[in-house]
Amino acid sequence: MTQTTKRSLTGIRASGNVHIGNYLGTIKPALEKQGQYECFYFIADMHSLTTNKAPATLKVFSYDLVATWLALGLDSSKNLIYRQSDIPMVTELAWYLSCVTGFGFLEKGHAFKDALAQDQEVNHGVFAYPVLMAADILLYDPDIVPVGKDQKQHVEMARDMAGSFNAVYGEVIKLPQVVIDERVMSIPGLDGRKMSKSYGNEIPLFCDETTLKKKIMSIITDSTPLEQPKVLKGNLVGELYKLFASESQYADLEKRLASGGLGWGHAKQELFELVNSSLKEYREEYTRLRADEAALERVLTLGAERAFSVAEGVLNRVRKAVGFKSCPVTFQA
Ligand code: TRP
Repeated sequence: MTQTTKRSLTGIRASGNVHIGNYLGTIKPALEKQGQYECFYFIADMHSLTTNKAPATLKVFSYDLVATWLALGLDSSKNLIYRQSDIPMVTELAWYLSCVTGFGFLEKGHAFKDALAQDQEVNHGVFAYPVLMAADILLYDPDIVPVGKDQKQHVEMARDMAGSFNAVYGEVIKLPQVVIDERVMSIPGLDGRKMSKSYGNEIPLFCDETTLKKKIMSIITDSTPLEQPKVLKGNLVGELYKLFASESQYADLEKRLASGGLGWGHAKQELFELVNSSLKEYREEYTRLRADEAALERVLTLGAERAFSVAEGVLNRVRKAVGFKSCPVTFQA
């Protein structure tokens, strides 16, 4: 890997059951940066602690996620994946950033505002979430940060924090660009709202065929009689079909529905078959990889070693700028 290769970095919160919204909105666009960029992917398990107080789940989720990314095409020989908690220096950088970040600025964070509005627990971790996220990013000098639309504000806040730090200490921290994939602005869930675990409307990425079928058949459609023409465009079945179909596949189903004789039940069956066949190979690969936790741990350790060496360089720059000695820590897998 040459030093001139640009770096892409993105993280995903450690939680159970990745769904197709995560896949199409976050994972797929981030994996498409491989080849063009040196890609850093990490599992944001420290961020999970704002809500997850079940210690036994965190390791499980990290294996689920690394197996997911690998199954979907992450090439760990040229790119890397690591656990956020394996590089605890990130919390040190978060502190330096905290000291140049205003209370009023963090009050505008949407995760904090949402938690307040929904009467959820607002611990300091929820309030400081964008600072830790800024540290996640800035600790690795990335050129770009590909994220889903919902994370755009957080990446912009990271740039602002880097700017505030640099305004005090000089040009120490590199400012990355946020990259949003315009093709997948919002993935609808089974009830038509944005697909989200908190709405319970998600289509899991790697569930078994029976569950997948049950989920897809549960989509509520209108009761237009079988023989009457139906419009695929704008319908939820159509929106989901479009995510997986080629243009000609989509046009074909659209035509058959428009000419009558095909019910929404049939269309949903076809949607199930298309989603199932698109995911089948990945699901098998996932199951194979997930069964070997020692191998997954090795991938994470290799990733953490490489991530550590980059983090150490950046943190030393920052420590020097604020008036401290170099990092006293060394990497321990
Ligand atoms: N906040 C992101 C999410 O909820 C996860 C995340 C944490 C992240 N740190 C990051 C994403 C740094 C990109 C870059 O999905």
